[in-house]
Formats: sequence, structure tokens, C-alpha cells
Amino acid sequence: MSEVISEAVPETVAFPQDRTCPYHPPTAYAPLRDQGQPLSRVHLYDGREVWMVTGHAEARALLTDQRLSSDRMNPDFPAPSPRFEGLRTEDRKSRTTLLGVDDPEHNVQRRMLIPSFGLKRIAAMRPRIQQIVDRLLDDMEAGGHPAELVSAFALPVPSMVICELLGVPYTDHEFFEDASRRLLRGPTAADSRKALDDLEEYFGELITRKEAEPGDGLLDELIADRLRTGDLSREMLVSMAMILLVAGHETTANMISLGTFTLLQHPEKLAALRADAALMPAAVEELLRYLSIADGMLRVAAEDIEVGGVTIRKGEGVVLSTSLVNRDATAYAAPDELDWDRSARHHIAFGFGIHQCLGQNLARAELEIALHSLFVRFPGLRLAAPAEEIPFKPGDTIQGMVELPVAW
Ligand code: HEM
Repeated sequence: MSEVISEAVPETVAFPQDRTCPYHPPTAYAPLRDQGQPLSRVHLYDGREVWMVTGHAEARALLTDQRLSSDRMNPDFPAPSPRFEGLRTEDRKSRTTLLGVDDPEHNVQRRMLIPSFGLKRIAAMRPRIQQIVDRLLDDMEAGGHPAELVSAFALPVPSMVICELLGVPYTDHEFFEDASRRLLRGPTAADSRKALDDLEEYFGELITRKEAEPGDGLLDELIADRLRTGDLSREMLVSMAMILLVAGHETTANMISLGTFTLLQHPEKLAALRADAALMPAAVEELLRYLSIADGMLRVAAEDIEVGGVTIRKGEGVVLSTSLVNRDATAYAAPDELDWDRSARHHIAFGFGIHQCLGQNLARAELEIALHSLFVRFPGLRLAAPAEEIPFKPGDTIQGMVELPVAW
């Protein structure tokens, strides 16, 4: 008689998943929410199993735990897509900065940038951000409706602002917006790698030009105060410039487009916001929690870590699901409701711990000014296509709208 051996193959959910509604976590993650465990096993595109953190307290504990590493050059660091794998080749070791390195190296780099993103500096930029926003709204109004909000407003606002802050010529925006798109969403690993090389070449040339003819942006300051003194290598400066430019426009652009879409889908909330502009900062905070556009922070365990009733073994990959952590019912009552009367504080939409978003003050200022001014300028703003036909971004990138046709 033959013996039947049944092997229990663990059925895990795949990460990442596409959203089914652009402002809700993917429905395919429902089993992870339903089982009520703060950590679960999920699998990546190559079949590798990693831990997915969905509990709010556990995520915040882990994001401040030095045993959890951001070192992208660690061979055990999880790759969520072939594209990501193609970007971390051995030759990139000396060019990995900020998000991809641990302290103390990370701290040295971050401290060079902190003064430029502090509350005071950003508050001083508000009038200029308002001017940029108003001019773009003038152009949009003059062009008549329907208009495509991503290209007319959501993308140029943060793109122009980060260009001014860094000292990058906005006239090059078509190049770097396209390269950033290819870097984050290129169809193949080779496309994304090419985009990275193109951006590095661009910044290498820009820095050489600036050395001969200095301007007054952050890159010029870094050349004078850090590159010339030998505190920062040319390769590192190129890498930092690239991260700041890409992170500085793609993310906020997606928050503006998806934030607008979400508010238009919640007319009673929008009406309350229009009636009281003082609600805007709380609304932006709640939108950051609700939309969780950077959905999935990656780490690798440098040591065994006990958390939430499980042991993460050294070398295991960890994904922190921003969208599920920010909708953990133990942290937020009725988490699937958009409600800025709650305190959305302690969300992890900007991450938490040493890598917490460097640009968060800037992003908040841009979002408050952009959303407020847009809805004041166009009191009758509405979608110019059925909501379900408007394309949004796939799950393996920053979440947001691909296009947003609007009328007024
Ligand atoms: C609403 C817009 C934004 C969102 C949702 C966002 C989200 C995030 C998140 C989640 C992280 C942490 C990732 C991790 O720990 O794995 C992060 C880090 C970072 N963000 Fe943002 N970001 C936004 C806007 C910006 C802007 C405007 C800049 C401007 C330069 C920026 C620059 C950075 C940088 C440099 C880091 C790495 C910090 C470090 O490693 O120390 N971000 N961001």
C-alpha cells in the first residue's frame, strides 16, 4: 500500500497587491486584517516569504528598533519586484544614501540636510509655494475645462517647489519627471536601471556646472560646505540629489491627485472643509493616514527580534504595510472612515524612527496650500469622467492617480 504524504503548503497572500479602490488598502489584504494578528507571513514575486507588519504598535516599535536594518546592499534585503533587484547591483555600494543605509552612516548624511527641511525654513517658503500654486491655477482656469489635474497641477506644484529648493532648473522637468516615472514604474528592471543611470548622469553634469557657476539652492550649499571640504563624495552628493528630487515631487504629486479624488468622492466632508479653512491641517493629516500612498516599507532583520508574539529571525525580510498599520482598529476607531475630527497623529504615512520622511514639513505645507487653493478657485470642481474609469497606479509603486480629468 502506498503511503500518501500530504505536505502542508502554507498559503500566503502576495505582496504587493494592486488596490481595488484607489483610496483603500488592497482588498486582497483582507485575510491579514481579518485574522487580527499584528504580523503575518506574505510572499514576494520570487516566492520568498517575509513578515508583513500590520499592527500599529508593533510597526512603531520595529521602526525604532536598530536590529531592523535598511541596508539595501544586504543580500537578504527583500526585493518586492525584479525592478528593485536590478537597482541594487554591487557597483552601487558607494552610492547608496539615506533610505538605503543604517546609522551611524545614515545619521551623518541626514544631518547635512535637516536644516533645509526644518519647520522655520519651510514656513518661510509658504508665500512662494502659494505663488506657484496660484500661477498654475491661473493657467488651468485660462485653459478651460475639462482639464487633466495631474499634469496641470498635482505634478508641477511639488516639481517646481523642489527644483527651487535644490537649485535644479525646472526647464529640465520633462526629463526628470519621465526618468523618475521610469525609475519607480519602469516596465522592466533594465528600464528602471537605465533611468537611474540617466538621473545620475544628469546630476553629475549639473553639479559640475554648478561648481563653475554657483547658484543659491541646497545643492549649491552642499557643494560649497560639504563637497569642497571632503565631507561628502561626489557620488554621494549625486545620490542625495537624486533621492531628494524623486522623493520630493513624486510622492506629494500623488497625494495632491489622490487627495483631490478622495475629497470629491466624499462631498459632505469636502463641504465641511470648504466652510472652515482652519480644518485643512487636520484634513491633510487624516488624508495622509487614510491614503497611505507609500504603502510598504522594507527592512531586513540584522538580529533575531521578538515582537507581537513571533520571532523574526536574523536575515528575514520585513514589510511594514503602511495602509494596514494606519487602519489598525486598535489605534483608530472606525479606521476605514475619513474623519478629521479624530486625531490622526501617530500615523506612519511618513514612516517613523530614523528614516521618518525628511520632507514631511514641506509636504504638509504643499498639500495644505494646494488643496485649499484648488477648492477655493473652483467651487464647482468635479470629476470629468466616471470615477470607476479613472486610472490609478499599480500596487508596486507610490499610490496615486495616473490621470485626473476634472471640470468646474
Ligand atoms: C506626501 C508626501 C510624502 C510621503 C507620503 C512621503 C513618505 C515617506 C516615507 C514613508 C518615508 C520613509 C520610508 C522608510 O522608512 O522606508 C520617507 C522618507 C524620505 N522622504 Fe518622504 N514622503 C513625502 C514627501 C517627501 C518630500 C516632499 C521630500 C523632499 C525632499 C521627501 C524626502 C524623503 C527622504 C529624503 C526620505 C529618506 C529619509 C531618511 O532615510 O532619513 N519626502 N518619505
